[in-house]
Order: sequence, then structure tokens, then C-alpha cells
Amino acid sequence: MILCADFSGIDAILVEVESSIDRKSVLRGIDIVGMGDTAVKESEKRVKSALKSNGFDFMKGRITVNLSPADVKKSGSHYDLPIALSILSATGDLKNKKIFVMGELSLDGRVRRVRGVLPALMELRNSKFEGIVIIPRENEKEASVVGLSDTFSVENLREAVELINDLRFFKSLEKIDIAVSSDFDVDMSDVKDQELAKRAIEIAAAGGHNILMIGPPGSGKTMLARRIPTILPQMNLDEILETSKVYSIAGFPGLVLKRPFRSPHHTASVASIVGGGVNARPGEISLAHNGILFMDELTEFRRDVLEALREPLEEGKITVARARSVAVYPARFMFVGAMNPCSCVEIDDDGECICSETERIRYTRKISGPILDRIDMHIRVKRMNFSEYRRKSPKESSELIRNRVIAARSVQKKRGILNSNIPHKDIEGFVKIDSESEKLLEKFSDRMKISGRGIDKILKVARTIADLDNSDRVIKKHILESIQYRVVSF
Ligand SMILES: Nc1ncnc2c1ncn2[C@@H]1O[C@H](COP(=O)(O)OP(=O)(O)OP(=O)(O)O)[C@@H](O)[C@H]1O
Ligand SMILES: [Mg+2]
Repeated sequence: MILCADFSGIDAILVEVESSIDRKSVLRGIDIVGMGDTAVKESEKRVKSALKSNGFDFMKGRITVNLSPADVKKSGSHYDLPIALSILSATGDLKNKKIFVMGELSLDGRVRRVRGVLPALMELRNSKFEGIVIIPRENEKEASVVGLSDTFSVENLREAVELINDLRFFKSLEKIDIAVSSDFDVDMSDVKDQELAKRAIEIAAAGGHNILMIGPPGSGKTMLARRIPTILPQMNLDEILETSKVYSIAGFPGLVLKRPFRSPHHTASVASIVGGGVNARPGEISLAHNGILFMDELTEFRRDVLEALREPLEEGKITVARARSVAVYPARFMFVGAMNPCSCVEIDDDGECICSETERIRYTRKISGPILDRIDMHIRVKRMNFSEYRRKSPKESSELIRNRVIAARSVQKKRGILNSNIPHKDIEGFVKIDSESEKLLEKFSDRMKISGRGIDKILKVARTIADLDNSDRVIKKHILESIQYRVVSF
């Protein structure tokens, strides 16, 4: 029996590939049935050529290849090798064994790397598969992590055939343990001054809050954003596997050991950011799963891209339409945005621009209210003066900040939820404030016309500030600080 896999979101579904040969038929050729897409249909040509150039005589009749279950749509080029092997098993060139196999074939029979090896092998492990597993050599790393016994990597069709017919001369892959990495080539201590922005970023990292940085060009926004992964706790094993599954489906083999930092360009299309499109792949927001999605020059992004962020920002996943179905990809990321306060470049004596309030509002309106409302913290990154920029003061390292973030997160773990994810109904219970703070919040919210969602966010951020302060209660100073992180409101 020959098995392969297809995918729904980042999960694998096992697919059986079987071939029969009609030796009496005067027609010679291969038919592939079972809801295959164009790549699967084209498989016929690659398989024929690969078989021929490796000296296999398969033209012994009319061959029908069936992919089942029939109601699952099959897509991708990874069916090549299983189809070729199943034909050889029908012609009698291959011993009949239980095999799981994936691989694209080149015309001369070389096996090319494919998408989805990690989720497929994880599915095999879950279903307690017992048999031989064959994957392309270039996908070896993903396979070694899953650690199934009798897993082999091959470079070409002939090697796969020899291996199946006689295992004795081949060495199976050894399981490798995941070594989490926390080496970064950047550090928070590279960033001069900007203490307020750094403090806000620490809070954002501690509670998993989304953050928008607003400041003039060259003030260090991009620099700060790039250093956020360095102050977050390392990914745990489950996070590594889940994120790596997304990368595997997207066509990047190997393991993702560091929290991802994705920074798509503002000209990017909706499909490349949210996923889907012709090939139905995960987009940037899913590649940022468990890490950071950084959108620099936020106002320059297409409106439909920004609108498409609503679902993932709220739900941590994205649903994208495929040809005849939908795919759901995980997309739980910390959103970090950066933008200039206005379109002008003129600065007055205080280092502020000379645009009127109306002009600034018009500029920021480019990001729609609903998106802005979904961002927990809005901060100003100021223009530094010469002496601040040149001052040589000792700066905190990422490691130091990370330790505080980890401590604040462990308090949240005891409560069972990261502050940014606290649902509305639990806010009352988790964030109790006194009447004085209540009044303060009321005054601010009414004056600034803060939405209900905005008020919840102020309270959640205040909870994180209190956690960093190692305080059980959320008191007035925490609320006061939290309010500051909502400088832009609509
Ligand atoms: N606070 C800072 N500390 C150290 N270097 C800085 C700082 N701010 C700016 N720089 C220097 O200026 C360069 C540009 O900074 P960065 O790209 O982060 O600015 P930005 O705020 O993102 O600007 P823009 O709005 O144009 O994107 C950095 O690569 C760095 O060399
Ligand atoms: Mg920048």
C-alpha cells in the first residue's frame, strides 16, 4: 500500500495512491483519477519521463492511478514519486510494502523537495503508522525531528526503488532533538535613548499586546521593531512545531527555531499577506505565527490588506478561499506597526511637525478606525536631539528585559491566559480597579471618545503593567500609564 498526504490548513490528510494496469488495452498511457489539481494532472508527464529515463518499461498496458479518498481535493507536485512507485508496484518492479512517500520528480528522475513533510509525518506519528517512510533528501531535517522509525531520504527514483526492494543497504534517519535558539545578531542595547518607546515595547512584549509606533523618519522605529523578538521568551516545543508546520506548508523546509519576524513590503498583495491565491499558501501573517508581524509605513499598505487583518487580529487565525474549498491557517502574531505622524517633513522648533491637527487626522485616517481600534497600544517615538543621540549612557540588554518579560508572563500563565487575549467577560474578574481609577478612566474615555474595545484594551494593558510591577492589584498609576498608550483615537 502506498500512502501520500494532502493538506487542510496546516494539517495533513492521508491519501492512498493505487494503480492498476489493463494489459489487454490497445491504448497505452496513464490516467490519474481522484480530484487532482493541475499539478497532479501534470504529474503524468513528469512520472512518464522519469520512469523512462531510469529504464523502467511501464508501457505494458493502460495504467489507471487512483487517489483516494475521492472527495478530498488533491493538490501539489508531491504526488509524483508515490504515483511512480505505485505504477512500478502494478507492473511488478516493486515489492508490495506499506510505504508513505512524498516527492516531486524531475524529468530525469531526481527527487525534488516538497511542501508539507513536517505536518504529514506528524500525522503519521499520531496515527501510529507502521511502515517505510520516504521523503526527499532536501526535506531531511523536518523528518528527523518527527523521529519516526524507518524513515529514509532519497535523491532519485532509482534509489527509492532499490530501498523498497531491499532495505538492508540503507540507513534510516536518526531522530534529532530540537535545539531552541536565542542567538540574535541585534540587541535592544543598540538603540539609543527612546526610553519611553522601549518601556512601551517591554509592556507590549510582556502582555502580547499589539503596538503601533508613530514617529518622524529616522527616529528608530524600524530598529526597535526588529529587536522585539530578542526580548520575547524563546518558543517552546509546541510553538516550534506549529510554526514550522506553517513554514513547511508554505514551502520552506527546515525548522523555525527563533520567533519569526516578518516584515512584508507595503506594496504586497492581499494574497501574499493573508494567504490563499492560486496556490493557496499561507501568507505573511501565518508565517508570523507565534512571532512578530511588522508592518512598516502602515499608512502605505493597501486598504484591502489592512481590512483583511481584522479577522486574524481578533481570532488568531485566517480563513482563505481556495478553488473549491476554504483553508484555515493559524495566524497568532504580535502585530507591530510603524508610521510617520503625517506626510510632511517640516519640523518646527520643538521638533514637532507643522501640520495642523486636521491634516494629521486626515493622514492617520488612511488606516481605518476598526484597525486602529484593534491595536492595543499607540505610542509616539520622538525625534531625538543631537546630545541624546550621541550620549554614551549604559543601556539595558535584551536579556535583562527578556527576564522581566518572562517573569510577567509567568504570572499570566498562572491566571491561564495572556493579558492581550483576555475576553471581555473576564476583564471584570482579572482587572479590578478602585473608584478613583474608574473615574480617571471614565474622564479620559469620554474626552477622547474611546470605544468599548478601546476601554477593554486600556484595562488589559494596565493589567500587564501591574504584572511587570509584580502587583496583584491594578492601581491608579498603572491606569495612568496605560492611558498614555492610546494617544491616537478615533
Ligand atoms: N534610537 C536610535 N539609536 C540608534 N540608532 C538610531 C536610532 N534611531 C535611528 N538610528 C539610526 O538611524 C537609522 C534609521 O532608523 P530607523 O530605520 O529605525 O528609523 P525609522 O524611525 O524607522 O524611520 P522611517 O520612518 O524613515 O522608517 C538606524 O538604522 C540607525 O542607524
Ligand atoms: Mg522605518
